[in-house]
Amino acid sequence: MKKATIQKYGDLDVIKLIETETPTLTKKQVLVKVKAAALNPKDILVRKGKFKQLTGRKFPQGIGYDFAGIIEDGNGHSFKKGDKVFGMVNGMQGRCCAQFVNVDVNELYKMPDNLSFEAAAGIPLAGQTALQAIRDKGQLSKGQKICINGASGGVGTLAIQVAKELGGIITTISSDKNLAFCKSFGAAETLSYNQINILDSKNKFDIFFDVFGNYNYQKVAKILTPKGKYITTVPKAAIVKEQFFNLFRKKKASMVVVKSNKADLKWFYDKIVANKIQAVVDGVFPLEDIQKAQKYIESKRAKGKVILIT
Ligand SMILES: NC(=O)c1ccc[n+]([C@@H]2O[C@H](COP(=O)([O-])OP(=O)(O)OC[C@H]3O[C@@H](n4cnc5c(N)ncnc54)[C@H](OP(=O)(O)O)[C@@H]3O)[C@@H](O)[C@H]2O)c1
Repeated sequence: MKKATIQKYGDLDVIKLIETETPTLTKKQVLVKVKAAALNPKDILVRKGKFKQLTGRKFPQGIGYDFAGIIEDGNGHSFKKGDKVFGMVNGMQGRCCAQFVNVDVNELYKMPDNLSFEAAAGIPLAGQTALQAIRDKGQLSKGQKICINGASGGVGTLAIQVAKELGGIITTISSDKNLAFCKSFGAAETLSYNQINILDSKNKFDIFFDVFGNYNYQKVAKILTPKGKYITTVPKAAIVKEQFFNLFRKKKASMVVVKSNKADLKWFYDKIVANKIQAVVDGVFPLEDIQKAQKYIESKRAKGKVILIT
């Protein structure tokens, strides 16, 4: 089968498509014929060696964490050959940018029938990140105010929709050109970082979800309600310290670390089939053009998700 790999840590030129064996399965895994896989900033960070301690020094390494496809081998589990599924593999061993992927049966779910494979592939990682940040870390309740920074990207566009489903009143921060785009997913207020500094806001937020990760708790605290929460996606030293100081104050700071699971994939399945949440695809590239697709993600200008088809 064809599989995208990195041959060492580095720039785009370390990416290489190779021919390799179809993966073997552990008892817990099923084999999926991948139809589409999503790109994520994690792919770029791993390629550049930013998580070396977790990804090790053995090469080649696979690429990609979320996918949509068809069951090739159900391996004794409830899925049968031909079932459409979508999911995300946990851990640091990316491998979904390939023609087949071995996936723990708890890390996938049946795919919503009203989506294409390309659209479905973009949901699992970005969507579960948004859900686990806003519902679990933030515990957003109906009528609460949430500000989403970096609202037009892969995680952001789903975060707006998740917050809306949970009953939040949403403010988004994006560039000028994406104001209407953010509005279209249900934001009540759309602000541009080209025009305003959110830290000057008179509004107070119950949650500030820093998807883009260029703020920190210390800066944001003054625009949080007395029990407000700052949640980031970006693992920086400051957030570890701030999580410790949570013990001594009412306002809280935390970081989301996405973990794929059946229940959360089902949450998206249900919302998507009910047409409550839509997938947002910016671009679709053939697997052979993975370098071009990663270059686009690296520009940090993606509107929604960038997808590869195998
Ligand atoms: N911890 C976790 O488990 C986890 C999981 C998923 C993602 N993440 C992290 O979350 C971050 C976002 O991921 P993503 O998939 O949403 O990325 P993405 O799709 O590549 O984000 C692109 C978006 O970033 C926006 N952006 C660029 N500069 C900005 C700025 N200065 N202020 C606000 N927005 C800006 C762009 O909007 P404009 O063009 O309008 O500026 C664009 O729409 C990444 O750092 C990723 O590594 C972490």
